[in-house]
Amino acid sequence: LARYRVAMIGSGAWACAAVRMMAQNTKVDDPADEFVDEIRMWVYEEDYQGRKLTEVINETHENPKYFPGFHLGDNVVAVPSIEEAADGADLIVLCAPHQFIHGICKQLMGKVKPGAAAISLTKGMRVRPEGPQLISQMVRRYLNIDCAVLMGANIATDIGREQLSEAVIGYDNLDHAERFKKLFQRPYFRISLLPDPVGAEMCGTLKNIVALGAGMVDGLGLGPNSKATIIRQGLVEMRRFSRALYPSVREDTFLECCGVGDLVATCYGGRNRLVAEAWTRAQMDGSPRTFEELESELLKGQKLQGVLTSNEVQEILRPAIHPAPCPLRVPSSPILQKRHWEQDYPLFTTINRIIN
Ligand code: NAD
Ligand code: 13P
Repeated sequence: LARYRVAMIGSGAWACAAVRMMAQNTKVDDPADEFVDEIRMWVYEEDYQGRKLTEVINETHENPKYFPGFHLGDNVVAVPSIEEAADGADLIVLCAPHQFIHGICKQLMGKVKPGAAAISLTKGMRVRPEGPQLISQMVRRYLNIDCAVLMGANIATDIGREQLSEAVIGYDNLDHAERFKKLFQRPYFRISLLPDPVGAEMCGTLKNIVALGAGMVDGLGLGPNSKATIIRQGLVEMRRFSRALYPSVREDTFLECCGVGDLVATCYGGRNRLVAEAWTRAQMDGSPRTFEELESELLKGQKLQGVLTSNEVQEILRPAIHPAPCPLRVPSSPILQKRHWEQDYPLFTTINRIIN
């Protein structure tokens, strides 16, 4: 029986929590097992305490820099070459900070197995002069393979601790989605299939902006009423913006774990919230710090997505650089065809003005 070979492209906190779950599933000793035990994980090579990070991971089966304290599984093999990691893989899981995915796709162009299926765990989007591009769209375009998304309230360390969590797989191809569900689902990690991949990915992308607002609320010492205000208005603008860009996005998607679920988790426990709180406190104390400084100090190599995403989304909202008719490739989008888009998104716009 042919078995599916799995590759993980990425090795940060969420990539490690996800590869750990997959490694638990691929390792089962069952004749009906559909997956090759070994998972190759591409690691962006760097020095860790004088040694190569890949060597340390392969020796200890742990990623001490990005996900310390968790055994990844002795069937996870760290490789520094992205081509080698993806070579021959039937199922390609992408999980790197969104600013690196374009470079990753370019490196993988023409190198993936024809007929392979991909899934993106990355939250973020790319904005080019000709319009926005979701990560799954970029993967499809560059690698010429189907790409689903996995999104949810999924704080990596909580999943490493095997605490109850849920996610959706947003899909176009149901066979691929069912295969990925078998690959990821664990007793503590419940997966539902959602035929709205764009809606799920937009939710995962936009909640990172709202999380900055939640961190500001904490930095100002305000209480739950204020945070609830940010979360509610954030959800309104996430829905409005997603449906303006992609009118087929479903209303119900915002009530799923990829929508309100992820928004609440990130606004209480995420890294965007943490760094925005510290940034706000520094402003209030009269000793301002930059987001870059705080990112490197507090996250120790992990990456903040909200600041980049806020600037990327604002490029779309800002009328000055998009004179009507809007050059974005969203032909039937009424919101983008009128001016004053910023007025329709007061929370996104205010957060962007504050951070800049
Ligand atoms: P991370 O922020 O923990 O780590 C950063 C990663 O970027 C490291 O693996 C590092 O090696 C890599 N990197 C640094 N420079 C690079 C370069 N030039 N090219 C390529 N890679 C480089 O990573 P993460 O938490 O796995 O985040 C990946 C995605 O998952 C993000 O979109 C994030 O929003 C999303 N996500 C994260 C969590 C979480 O709890 N951490 C949960 C859900 C989703
Ligand atoms: P942060 O990047 O803010 O930690 O959010 C993690 C996340 O996406 C949880 O689902």
